[in-house]
Amino acid sequence: MSSISWTNIEPLQRSRPSRPLNPSSLTHRMRSAPQTCLQHASNLVPCGLSTFLGWRASKRRVARSVLSLDLPGLAPNWFNDDHTDTSASSGGLHYAHGPVGLQNLHLSPDLLDFLFEGLASSEADLRCLGFESCVDHPNLPGHRYLEAYFHTLPSGHGPVIAAHPRSGDSVAKAPAPVRLAAFAQQLRCQNAKVLGELAAACPPGSRLRAALAEGRAFGDLAVQIHWGDAVVDAEDVAWHVDAANSALHMAVSLHGRRTLQMRLRDPFELGSKVMEVSQRAGDVYIGNPAAYEHGLQYDSASWEDRIVALQLRLLLSEEELRDPQCLDGMEEVARKIGTAQPFKLPTLEDVRMAASLLVSESSS
Ligand SMILES: [Fe+2]
Repeated sequence: MSSISWTNIEPLQRSRPSRPLNPSSLTHRMRSAPQTCLQHASNLVPCGLSTFLGWRASKRRVARSVLSLDLPGLAPNWFNDDHTDTSASSGGLHYAHGPVGLQNLHLSPDLLDFLFEGLASSEADLRCLGFESCVDHPNLPGHRYLEAYFHTLPSGHGPVIAAHPRSGDSVAKAPAPVRLAAFAQQLRCQNAKVLGELAAACPPGSRLRAALAEGRAFGDLAVQIHWGDAVVDAEDVAWHVDAANSALHMAVSLHGRRTLQMRLRDPFELGSKVMEVSQRAGDVYIGNPAAYEHGLQYDSASWEDRIVALQLRLLLSEEELRDPQCLDGMEEVARKIGTAQPFKLPTLEDVRMAASLLVSESSS
C-alpha cells in the first residue's frame, strides 16, 4: 500500500468495518457530529439578496409536503415549513443552512454507455470488486442496495487511506475501476481553473483549501446500486445532511431513474421547500449537500433496470472530516458553484484516452 502524497492523513491503525447507515444512524450521525451539522446552523448568513441568481419563482408549483418531523429517522427540519416544488430548476444559488450552489449537467450518451459498461454487470462480480450491502430503508426489506468505495487519485497511489463516506472511519480505498478513475481525472484536468478559483476562495490554511489545491476534488468515489422495491413514501426517504467531504460533490446517474429531494430556502422567504429533481441516466448535479437536507426516492427496478449512481466527493482523511473547522470555506465554494460557468464534462474520447493511459501506466 502506498503512502499518499497529501497532508494531514493519519496512518491507518486498523481498518474498521463500515457501519450500515439507516435512518436511525442518519439521526445518530447528525447528533454525533454536531461540529459538522450545527456549524451550518451557526453559520446562517443573511439572505445575500444581492448575490441571488437562481430561484425560478415563476415556475413554482407548490403543494403541501407530507413530510413531518414526527416521522422516524427524519433529519431535523430547522425551518418548520415544508412545501414540495416539483417543477423548479435546481440550478443556481439557493440557501439552506448556508449558501447552496447547484449546477445541472448531462453526460453524452456515448460516455454514459462507456462508464456504465465499465462496471461489472453481475452482483457476484461486483461483490468481488468490494461492493457491500447497505440498508438505508429498514422498513423496505425488498429494496436492495450495494455500495463500494474507491479513490480516483492518479495512478501509482495504490490503495489510499481516507474517510469512509458513511461512517467517517479511516478505511483503505482501492483505486477506482479504470474508466471511472479516468472520468474523475479528466474532470479535475478540464476544470482545473475553476477548481483553483474555488481553492483560492477558501480561507488560507483551511482544510477545504488544502483539499482543493492538492487535487482531491472528485477524489472520493462511492458507487451506489439500487434495485428491488421502490422507495417512494415520505416516511421511507432517508433524509440526511452529508459530511464535509460533500462541500464539493458531483452525482452522476449512470442507469435507471431516481428522484432527488432537497430542502432549500428561497432567499426571500423564511420557510423552506422540498424541491424534487428527477435524475435519469446521464444526469449530473454538482453542489454542496453538506449544507442542506436531502433524500432520494427510487423507482422499483429489476436487476436489469437497476439504478446506478456515482458520488464523487472530496477525498478527506478521518482527521479532516472530524475537524470542526473542516467546513470553513464552504460558503465561498457554494457561491462560486451557484454563479460560475458550468463545469466542463469530458467527452468519450477524453475519457477513453485517459483510461488507456492509466492501463499502460499500471502495466509498466
Ligand atoms: Fe447525501
